[in-house]
Amino acid sequence: MRVLGIETSCDETGVAIYDSEQGLLGDTLYSQVKMHAEYGGVVPELASRDHVRKLIPLIRETFQQAGLEHGDVDAIAYTAGPGLIGALMVGASTGRALALAWDKPAIAVHHMEGHLLAPMLEDTPPAFPFVALLVSGGHTQLVRVDGIGRYELLGESLDDAAGEAFDKAAKMLGLDYPGGPEIARLAELGDVTRFKFPRPMTDRPGLDMSFSGLKTFTLNTANDHRDEQGQIDDKTIADIACAFEQAVVDTLAIKCRRALQQTGMKQLVIAGGVSANQRLRDRLEEMVKKERAGLYYARPRFCTDNGAMIAFAGCQRLQAGQTSDLTILAQPRWPM
Ligand code: KG4
Ligand code: ZN
Repeated sequence: MRVLGIETSCDETGVAIYDSEQGLLGDTLYSQVKMHAEYGGVVPELASRDHVRKLIPLIRETFQQAGLEHGDVDAIAYTAGPGLIGALMVGASTGRALALAWDKPAIAVHHMEGHLLAPMLEDTPPAFPFVALLVSGGHTQLVRVDGIGRYELLGESLDDAAGEAFDKAAKMLGLDYPGGPEIARLAELGDVTRFKFPRPMTDRPGLDMSFSGLKTFTLNTANDHRDEQGQIDDKTIADIACAFEQAVVDTLAIKCRRALQQTGMKQLVIAGGVSANQRLRDRLEEMVKKERAGLYYARPRFCTDNGAMIAFAGCQRLQAGQTSDLTILAQPRWPM
């Protein structure tokens, strides 16, 4: 089975072809990050317009990479949500139109299911069942995964997603968008002992989380160290970035350990943009070692938004006999 995957839910145009026997045959990606950075965040209208410009050329390029003729796939999978409605509509209507033109089934894929399954594209994939930590710009969830489509929410952030907190904290420190990689870069230069940030909701039982308090803590700490011109010195910015990152990472690690203990599972999968964070990976490696469990994640390119994860998730759905009807599905809000 061979599936074309299309991702346009936010600021990345991603296209890939996944073959159930041969793996990834083609994978192209165009990031709009530079365009949005000028505005300090994603501008939805600009995102949609750019997807319109880039999607068809990327589809062409992906077929070329794969050495396939147009239409030489068994189905077309597209991200149907959650995400920005205008951006989603571009991938959804293109995917559905190609399915109609090529007389193939279309598959509406949940963006977070794409992220969740992305580590299975790697050479040593996790096997069901496992616990997954989904950490992106829009979601922070702990999920019990028993198989394709068999997901049980164990806990989630009650306010900001971890990635969103990274982005907002970065903005407060005057750093560029997207803030996650910027904070991670500066944190390496910081002194982790200088500021002590809280580990929200870790002193009570349960797997729910909260990250908006860390954002406020960042703002207050930054304001306490402004000079008369309102400037903060580079060393202090790095120290705050370091304390912030450490607090998010520690909090996630505590909740992940709890989820493993609670479910008795021995595999932890991390997925979504924040799973690219090296300090998070290192901290979780330490934790799973103590729990005699294994940690799984995707290569950085497949942690953030990409077409490969949608092609892969679509292929799993196709193999399970699940395709979508003729309706063009684009849902900005959609529980997994
Ligand atoms: O999964 P993703 O590409 O898009 C969503 O579905 O939201 O995640 C984007 C998020 C952004 O908030 C970005 O700041 C964060 O992932 N991110 C990181 C890192 N790389 C991306 N956060 C922390 N450390 C990183 N290295
Ligand atoms: Zn995403």
